[in-house]
Amino acid sequence: MNPFNYQGPVAPTHLIDRRGELDELQRAAADRIAVRLAAPRRFGKSSLLDAHAAAMREAGHRAVRVDLSKVATLGDVAARIANAYAELPADPSRSVRRWAARLELGASVGGVGVRVATRPLRPPADEARAALLELLDVPRSLHEADGGLTVVCFDEFQEILVADEAVDGLMRSVIQHHGEAAAYVFAGSQPSLMHALFSEYERPFYGQARPLELPPLPIAEAVADIEALLRADGLDPGDAVDRLLVYSGGHPQRTILLAHHVYDVLDRGGDPDPAATALELALEETRDAHQAVWDGLGRNERLVLLALGDGQAPTGSIVAAEHRIARSTLREALERLLGDQRHVQRDANGKPYLLDPLFAEWLRRR
Ligand SMILES: Nc1ncnc2c1ncn2[C@@H]1O[C@H](COP(=O)(O)OP(=O)(O)OP(=O)(O)O)[C@@H](O)[C@H]1O
Ligand SMILES: [Mg+2]
Repeated sequence: MNPFNYQGPVAPTHLIDRRGELDELQRAAADRIAVRLAAPRRFGKSSLLDAHAAAMREAGHRAVRVDLSKVATLGDVAARIANAYAELPADPSRSVRRWAARLELGASVGGVGVRVATRPLRPPADEARAALLELLDVPRSLHEADGGLTVVCFDEFQEILVADEAVDGLMRSVIQHHGEAAAYVFAGSQPSLMHALFSEYERPFYGQARPLELPPLPIAEAVADIEALLRADGLDPGDAVDRLLVYSGGHPQRTILLAHHVYDVLDRGGDPDPAATALELALEETRDAHQAVWDGLGRNERLVLLALGDGQAPTGSIVAAEHRIARSTLREALERLLGDQRHVQRDANGKPYLLDPLFAEWLRRR
């Protein structure tokens, strides 16, 4: 079986590097300091949270990851928390069990199977609110009972704002009293929204969490780990992994996607250039997604992206002259792309670059 899983979080045992980040998270948990982790999509946030939770459990603490992606209502937020907390030992006040039953969740809570519903019920807003307040306080009742620590990792935290504009205030009102009882991590994939939640003075979580960055994977270590997995299955990568990794720049999901295809190509055998074939396959697989991004952008943004893909200065006089467009117009488009933080980021030297190496390649092959 192909060992390179590029869809969804990877098991802690398959994590490449991230030791520094795990150390930071562990130290913060020991000091009960909240951490916020904002990184682009597919950079390995959920995988890191899972590894952190696993390490915390190994150290004898309770730990859960609460997936908040696509929550649309307060009831959804409560349901996700109930679902995640159902893995914890039964809380003395039985909040999780009661609310899980009430919200008709499919979780098996405290060993008792609760009826499975395809979707959680849509409780009235005041009931959802009550559920949320009580569920959020579960780490405290557990702590009162046994003095232990619960590590709670909220994943896609920025999505709570879809459910309710003021839900961060509601959440903070409960968890700010957790002192010794809990350590929180807030992870999100829309850096601008995460920034708003934690850095705008008027928001309840303003200044309430230590920021943690998630950089691309270290290339040398990623090459070594990927080659080891290939060799373990009797495949000889030659220089294929080296070539692809230089090209992927350590973008976590793109790196593993390319590794996945190299594995398949080598496994089939007889390919004179496995790296090139793997790249073709990866482009083939992601073409529709690139096209959708492209279709959703205006002309000026497209020109900036094309220039970045070609390695040109996107707001320079050459690009401006070529397209008969004012440099200030290009600068505005670049600022919009940087503000949106989905496709373009600044590197350590402040130079803008395309986050997704496959998108960059797709643009170059126009
Ligand atoms: N440290 C890592 N080691 C190996 N693979 C990784 C690592 N980080 C990320 N990946 C790869 O990236 C993929 C996406 O990881 P993950 O789902 O954790 O990212 P995410 O940031 O939570 O993504 P999303 O924005 O979709 O929620 C994984 O399937 C895996 O292939
Ligand atoms: Mg994720």
